[in-house]
Amino acid sequence: LVYRGYNIHDLAQNASFEETCYLLLHGALPTRDQLEWFERDLRFARAIPPTVIDIIDHVKAAHPMDILRTAVSATVALDESSHEATGEVALPVARRLIAQVATIVATMHRLRAGLDPVPPRHDLTHAANFLYMMFGTEPSPEHAKIIDLDLVLHAEHSSNASTFAARVAAGTAADIGSAIVAAIATLKGPLHGGAAEAVQKTVEEIGDPERAVAYIKERIEAGEKVMGFGHRVYKTDDPRAKELRGVARDLGHKMGNDRWFQILQEIERAMEPYRPKGIYPNVDFYAGAVYSLLGIPEEQFIPMFAVGRMPGWA
Ligand code: ACO
Repeated sequence: LVYRGYNIHDLAQNASFEETCYLLLHGALPTRDQLEWFERDLRFARAIPPTVIDIIDHVKAAHPMDILRTAVSATVALDESSHEATGEVALPVARRLIAQVATIVATMHRLRAGLDPVPPRHDLTHAANFLYMMFGTEPSPEHAKIIDLDLVLHAEHSSNASTFAARVAAGTAADIGSAIVAAIATLKGPLHGGAAEAVQKTVEEIGDPERAVAYIKERIEAGEKVMGFGHRVYKTDDPRAKELRGVARDLGHKMGNDRWFQILQEIERAMEPYRPKGIYPNVDFYAGAVYSLLGIPEEQFIPMFAVGRMPGWA
């Protein structure tokens, strides 16, 4: 997996989400000055209009991806400067939407939980501010780093289903906001964005590492697909799963929950016979456990994916 010529493992280890966004939007990594300007621009674009907060509140009982799609649609409808934003003209809109989608997701989480939205701060990174808006307290640097890594890993994946949908919309010369809305609609599907949630549900249903192998065998014999496995492109290890595997293990251990990782390992073991078919864990396999350990509810996993994929779509 390569973003603009850089191997994903290099970016995962050395680049922040903001640097990755710049790379994807501009085609090259930023200089120090360019990064400073870019980060500042994103930080001051975080707030969403009060009307959008009201709209989220009105539709908060819907599926989180329906709320996200509606809120992004409203955000661009209210932003006149975005209505004809295509090509180069779309860059400032892209930056605003990258910043605002994180705020929309955190706002929907708060309103669904019966809590007041937490306004964004300007002094935190994109990842740290996202956790701050979700939970109302400043996250530890370690947790912010994990979300930063997760966002980098989700930022781009060439013409995957949702990006393909965005490109169809953009290819008709529709504005960038319309293209992003098409992408969000497509990411909603359980075979694309929904797998992390399904994996975490499976882990919780299995409950005990010793039950994992028999459980998976039963699912396969019933003709079901095992969520978090298989990929249209990778017929080998998904490099993003490799990065998240260690995070899930270490975070679980630190938080006194080794069980979820052990269950995931047992599921991997049960799936070994299918490797010759090219079925390996994908990005979603470990992401669900990482999100759950950080306190992000399952229903927010697909919106989280959208927060990360924004620069790729843009
Ligand atoms: N579990 C069990 N068997 C599988 C799985 C799986 N997860 N994935 C593929 N297979 C089997 C298929 O049944 C098929 O078997 P057959 O040849 O006997 O008919 C074979 O492997 C090839 O499967 P396809 O569906 O043709 O693979 P394709 O590359 O088209 O599909 C996809 C990729 C949609 C991701 C699929 O693997 C899947 O549904 N996985 C589960 C959902 C999932 O984890 N999605 C997240 C993907 S990553 C992302 O979008 C970010």
